[in-house]
Amino acid sequence: MIRREVLSLIRRAEAGADLGRDELAFLLSLEGEEQKALFGAADRVRARTMGDGVHLRGLIEFSNICRMDCCYCGIRRSNRHVRRYRMAPEEIVAAAQGASRLGYGSVVLQSGEGDALDPEELAGVVRQIKATTPLAVTLSVGERTREEYALWREAGADRFLLRHETADPELFARLRPGRRLEQRVQCLLWLRELGYQVGSGFMVGLPGQTVETIADDILLLRKLNVEMAGIGPFIPAPNTPLADAAAGTVDRTLNAVACTRLTLQDAHLPATTALGSIHPRGRQLALACGANVIMPNVTPGRYRDHYQLYPNKICLREEPEHCAPCVTALILGEGRFVATGPGHSPRWTS
Ligand code: 5AD
Ligand code: FES
Repeated sequence: MIRREVLSLIRRAEAGADLGRDELAFLLSLEGEEQKALFGAADRVRARTMGDGVHLRGLIEFSNICRMDCCYCGIRRSNRHVRRYRMAPEEIVAAAQGASRLGYGSVVLQSGEGDALDPEELAGVVRQIKATTPLAVTLSVGERTREEYALWREAGADRFLLRHETADPELFARLRPGRRLEQRVQCLLWLRELGYQVGSGFMVGLPGQTVETIADDILLLRKLNVEMAGIGPFIPAPNTPLADAAAGTVDRTLNAVACTRLTLQDAHLPATTALGSIHPRGRQLALACGANVIMPNVTPGRYRDHYQLYPNKICLREEPEHCAPCVTALILGEGRFVATGPGHSPRWTS
């Protein structure tokens, strides 16, 4: 049974109406047939605005060195059980070139918030990747100064991912000691001013989070008008203060993906690795309710064990050459196809 008011709310959202906080919170709680109706609407919006192509972004986790101590994160500074590493600049460039050979149109260079590479070195890596491949380059290296963001943008970086993590300022301050939501949003505004395609996002199921908080997460993404949004379940990591907390659920995460698709109709939304790590078909399920991107790991196999933001991460034993055919099969299995090219935001005109 689908209640009439639920159907009419989903229809309004599908037609592009801006929903309010209570309406989003209501949709985020849907179950059963009503949840299926929500997913159907999100899938239609995805097909209409983004098409059936799924974009692949090769993820290079180039260092796990981090100066932050986020309570949820397995590579937080005070976790002494992590063996810290940094890939050399040449190794990062080689991994990117390998991703290009595997057919990927873009790479994401991600690390902890540290100085594994000094800003100039990272700029050099970006320049070299841009000079030797057709790849779009995305950085994901945390909260930095405006000058650093500007340097990397001038070096040729196209995009930047910085999840806001949670839009609840108190929860944010509790989970990220010493940092404030306001500062993170400031970074996102700088990235926007500097001409990056901007990605943000959040975790679902953080201890203390409610559906209203998740509604606020989506409203913040709308206010920032992001080009990309990563949404994944929180997964408790060993040797962190939240080791014994409950994980986010598949259903709540999928509802969040679907509601984000209805709200930000032309954004790129990944079917996240975290979702694929808590459910064997997590990424497929996300592709069916709004997602249109997958980020296969292209980090050389020997480093992967040491980049566990959360436990039981998929693909830990794989090399880049394994993940490429695996995700292709996954995408074709969902009746979709692998999109080619850099996969810029449809709003991007340059
Ligand atoms: N569970 C799920 N996602 C996590 N992240 C960090 N730690 C965890 C965890 N324990 C996410 C954060 C970060 C992204 C790179 O990984 O949202 O921005
Ligand atoms: Fe890595 Fe399937 S995506 S093996």
